[in-house]
Amino acid sequence: MRNKKIEFYKHNLSLTDKNNVRKVLDSIFLTTGEWVKEFEKKFSKYLNIKYVVTVNTCTDALELSLRYFNIGKGDEVITTPLSFIATSNVIEYCGAKPVFVDVEESTGNINADLIESKITSKTKAIMPVHLYGHMCDMKKIRKIANKYSLKIIEDAAHCIEGKRDGIRVGQYGNSSCFSFYATKNIASGEGGAIATNDKKMYEWLLKARQHGMSKNAVDRYSKKYEHYDMEFLGFKCNMTNIQASLLFNQLDNVEKFRSQKELIAKKYNKGFQKNENIKFPMVLEKTKHARHIYTIWVDPSKRDEYLHKIQNENIGVAVNFRVIHLMKYYKDKYGYKKDSFPIAEKIGDSTITIPLYPKLTEKEINYVIKSVNNVVTD
Ligand SMILES: Cc1ncc(COP(=O)(O)O)c(C=O)c1O
Repeated sequence: MRNKKIEFYKHNLSLTDKNNVRKVLDSIFLTTGEWVKEFEKKFSKYLNIKYVVTVNTCTDALELSLRYFNIGKGDEVITTPLSFIATSNVIEYCGAKPVFVDVEESTGNINADLIESKITSKTKAIMPVHLYGHMCDMKKIRKIANKYSLKIIEDAAHCIEGKRDGIRVGQYGNSSCFSFYATKNIASGEGGAIATNDKKMYEWLLKARQHGMSKNAVDRYSKKYEHYDMEFLGFKCNMTNIQASLLFNQLDNVEKFRSQKELIAKKYNKGFQKNENIKFPMVLEKTKHARHIYTIWVDPSKRDEYLHKIQNENIGVAVNFRVIHLMKYYKDKYGYKKDSFPIAEKIGDSTITIPLYPKLTEKEINYVIKSVNNVVTD
């Protein structure tokens, strides 16, 4: 066993990022201000989507999107059971019902071919999750949404850089939601953003993230004082200048980070290729994977044993994800039983996430490959 742990994740913060935060700390405005505005402009340019509104988490971004579309009690939203709980929790926050659809065996993404069978008169939206950084079949999902006049809210927490079939993340969604949580491709501890081409939505979101106020603190401070009004009951989830300053320069490097992670993923693929007991999600043709996380799929009956053995080799691991519908809250509320969504359950019981970040050294990558192969032997 190695003495020094191979961490599950290491952030990419550079001296420039730290200096940017320093600039904010030395300024007047710690909260939402110029840094936030500039980051939003830069992110919208990167995504090629007209508007970006930053918030405190991707959870906020998803919830605000649902709220904007007036989704609430009596409504249904179609989504995947193989995701982080935030995806369906936001539907619950709004009083609507998450309706799960099983996933594809190859990628773990929502199976677009099964969506139509779950649409009822109550369905208002589809919330696809680009799992691990592999985009869903947005062409198919957009066709279905158009046919039934549904909104698409993309959970793009894993997928800033993704592209598939010539379509980028956010291009086919009514809104797309991003996370800058501590382990994400660019990270500010907590952080999130909503991207949309809808000007009305953009204007609503700017207010909704700050209590529904008509003016924010910068407006009041830097211009001739004007009173604010509260136009509707909003939320309090605006991003701060501190968070935005951390993200600003990381965004310039996001493609470089992705390429570095792509190389590591390829080394892992090669290293596990000969081990019949290790499978991993496919990357479909014409897909640019955002490479958020790298998971392997092993025998479900031995997954936990392997997980602990890999940990014992001093390698950080995670599970992405145990299925949502079998979490106590969802089982109790909706009566889900095992085998409700067999493919998602199988993946959820097989999956082990191993370290994937640009700071991994060649030696560490080789150690991970060797250790995992030594552990997963049957
Ligand atoms: C698929 C998915 N959606 C949503 C979220 C929520 O992101 P946040 O922690 O920024 O609220 C996460 C977080 O890990 C996630 O993995």
